[in-house]
Amino acid sequence: MPQSLAVSPVVPGLAAGNIPVILPAVQGTLMKSTQTPEPLMGISSRTNVDRRDWNRMALALALSPWLTPAARAQSLSSAAGAAQGPRWQADPFSLGVASGQPQPGSVVLWTRLRITEADAALNSQSISVVCEVFADAALRQPVRQWRVQTDAARAHSVHVVASGLQAGRPYWYRFVCGSAISPVGRARTSPAANDAVDRLRIALASCQHYEQGYFSAHREMAQRDLDLVLFVGDYIYESSNPQYMLRKHEGGVPKQLDEYRDRHAQYKTDADLRACHAAHTWLMTWDDHEVVNDYANDLDRNFSDPKVFLRRRAAAYQAYFEHMPVRLGPDPAQPSQMRIHDRLAWGQLADVWTLDCRQYRNHQACPDPNRGGGRVVVGCDALADPARSMLGMAQEQWFTEGLTRSTRRWKLVAQSTQMSSSGVNTPLGRSAFTDGWDGYPQARARLLATVADAGLSNVVMLGGDVHMNVAAQLRVQANDERSPVVASEIVTTSITSRGLGEKLLAQIRDSNPDIVHARSDERGYTLLDVRPEGISAEFRTTSNPALAEGVFKAQAKLAIRSGLAGVHKEG
Ligand SMILES: [Fe+2]
Repeated sequence: MPQSLAVSPVVPGLAAGNIPVILPAVQGTLMKSTQTPEPLMGISSRTNVDRRDWNRMALALALSPWLTPAARAQSLSSAAGAAQGPRWQADPFSLGVASGQPQPGSVVLWTRLRITEADAALNSQSISVVCEVFADAALRQPVRQWRVQTDAARAHSVHVVASGLQAGRPYWYRFVCGSAISPVGRARTSPAANDAVDRLRIALASCQHYEQGYFSAHREMAQRDLDLVLFVGDYIYESSNPQYMLRKHEGGVPKQLDEYRDRHAQYKTDADLRACHAAHTWLMTWDDHEVVNDYANDLDRNFSDPKVFLRRRAAAYQAYFEHMPVRLGPDPAQPSQMRIHDRLAWGQLADVWTLDCRQYRNHQACPDPNRGGGRVVVGCDALADPARSMLGMAQEQWFTEGLTRSTRRWKLVAQSTQMSSSGVNTPLGRSAFTDGWDGYPQARARLLATVADAGLSNVVMLGGDVHMNVAAQLRVQANDERSPVVASEIVTTSITSRGLGEKLLAQIRDSNPDIVHARSDERGYTLLDVRPEGISAEFRTTSNPALAEGVFKAQAKLAIRSGLAGVHKEG
């Protein structure tokens, strides 16, 4: 019988749009960062730089890791006392900067000091870092600054909840530590909860195997005018496939905290990925490869003792937190648990959920006893068990309650994988891949029945994981024309990870008339332009594998109209 972990402590502020209570594991830095911040200067209401100029300037600054000596001197004098800190031999900000989880008055700002051999003596010290926030790309209008302490226990990562900001506008930020100064990032606060916002531009992305290609999609995303990057999982990969190797992971398969830290740090050596973090505010959830392929709750594919596996999961979650602009780290009372699911309001235009499809799910049904995880099955009776859940019952209830109460125009649901069926009709019956939503059909039907029963017409599932672009209709009874379409689905292809072969994909298409578009042969990301009257989605792709100088084009454009569930191909 599958063992379910309880959802980690609910933080009411997250769902309500407030700054949450900070769990003690991250208290050291975050409490200091939010202690009576001292505003240096108010934001001018006359600030009105053209948005494209902001993008260009922010990106140019983000891509120049070291400022000129004059600019550095100016920065150090503005960050009072920072010059008293370490005199660095090598740039400690080589992993870049990032922002995430915006709220109307705040945003999470992140960096991690990467200490090299040349500065090894600093490894054992508590180090003071100043975070500066500006109202303009030229950094002439300081808004606030925070001084935080960091140390080796958190891999010298820094998370500042930059609060007291205005809603719905960009800010620029950087970190200063002794003689070193970080690249500049641009962050965006979300609009006020009641604002009649008329647009939300999102880049949806997932699955970036470092070895299988270059992160050129991030370069294009960095240069775009976006409100959010929505990353839905497989940010790192733990494993390798020697058949597809354009560049190489350092070290073996990570299992310990230091090994996960090194893997995350290696991914952030990619300049395009750093540029995309610096240019945009990200919302994130995870999938399996942030820990290990196909893990489910407390079980890995080797059927390891759950106690042993949960120690590995705790290490992976800790490293994830240390490298991401997210508000909450692992629960200090139960370090193998970390809340990633959340809801963000974008004015009155949209609610955006990020769901966790890994931490609380029931184990995969009908596993191969010699090799756990997901597999393709036919005739697995356990799939019919209504007690099985992809989200875990507590998260499922939290989500469906929020969904049915939502009064915002669009209900965008970011989660790890494809929700529409990808089963294939065979002479023995219909196949199901047990790691995806086809492995949790009762939970899927339950969610979609909730949408139908509540009469919601503007629910859009956003996913990744399957390394192909998919647009599909969602019905309570998949592929059954008598069952009305109740929601729409957009799944983005991978940034780099290799996709399914065309033969299998053709079988999937043939067996699933609900699929409007499916292609697995290209890599990329998806642009979403959300407006009150409709959503347009553009699959932006480059040929496989993604090359360093990859050029992107529109593979397909889709439209979803407000008030009418379903996705339609354009052109
Ligand atoms: Fe993936």
